[in-house]
Amino acid sequence: MLSEELKISGSFTEEVINDRLSICRFESISCTSSFAEDITRGLKQVPKVLHPKYFYDNTGSELFEKICDTPEYYVTRTESSILEKYSDEMALMNKGKKVIVELGSGSSIKTRYILSSFIKSEGCITYLPIDVSEIMVQSSKELLSEFEGLNIRGINGEYEEGLEIINELTGDPKMIVFLGSSIGNFTPVEAKRLLSSISNTMSGDDSFLIGFDMVKDENVLNAAYDDSAGITAEFNLNILQRINTELGGTFDLSKFSHKAFFNKAMSRIEMHLVSGSNQTVYIDKLNEYVEFRKGETIHTENSYKFTDEMINDLAGSAGLNVNKTWKDDRNYFGLCLMSK
Ligand code: AVJ
Repeated sequence: MLSEELKISGSFTEEVINDRLSICRFESISCTSSFAEDITRGLKQVPKVLHPKYFYDNTGSELFEKICDTPEYYVTRTESSILEKYSDEMALMNKGKKVIVELGSGSSIKTRYILSSFIKSEGCITYLPIDVSEIMVQSSKELLSEFEGLNIRGINGEYEEGLEIINELTGDPKMIVFLGSSIGNFTPVEAKRLLSSISNTMSGDDSFLIGFDMVKDENVLNAAYDDSAGITAEFNLNILQRINTELGGTFDLSKFSHKAFFNKAMSRIEMHLVSGSNQTVYIDKLNEYVEFRKGETIHTENSYKFTDEMINDLAGSAGLNVNKTWKDDRNYFGLCLMSK
């Protein structure tokens, strides 16, 4: 396969794969801290904490897909059903936009509804998926064979890196999409910061489509993060396995258990790992011993759940307006179209 490197600016290179697909990669060493540094810092904190982005190695990504298939985890299915039902209307409300930018596109499964409706409405569109995972390259190739009228310029990088270059890549009116209620992993302060940088890259003609998992019956929430087949437990424990594999850790996974509950006051699901005994774990590559008391926890994830009021406040704090919200019949999930 012919592939030429085209240098566009100082910060990234664009590899042309064929006449409909290119991938942008960043040259500079990203200033975000490494897995090893973050783990060292997190396990020294009181209480101990690990960042949920570290769930997603290959095994973790596969486990997340399995979570989406459990009967209890309604999130992905519900958002998909809203997209299936309303993506034509979304395209109609975004007439003239031929560019779709997606944060955290993964394998772009739900995005297919959006791409299909926009291609129907606009004829030909450009899709700019932003993702740290190489899966994006493979799924882009699959999208090309599924959709005529689609051009893809993938951005292999972090959200912030991607957002910084989209206006160099295109001047046309665009819709930015952020699905899955991934915003729920951010603290309110971080969420405001991310939406502000999205708002800053938008012109008055651009729009932003974002998914929010809504506050609902606590039993439904708790079950979704503690499925009866134990897949979410496996997903949570996999972060310890990852420390074992990548950093030479000695975690005995059978000595930790999964705990998830809705913290109503904070409006979030919290996931923790609980130590079943007093134990010491050695992590070779960090050259650290980590002590655990029986019952001590590692906080591994927050997944915020939203009300309409929280969504409006968040949008407002970032200089955005909510123009339209689409929900399912049970009001489990909301997809909001915002603009400046
Ligand atoms: C991918 C962040 C949206 O918070 O629901 C699923 C991750 N964690 N089950 C979520 C997750 C446990 C998921 N997000």
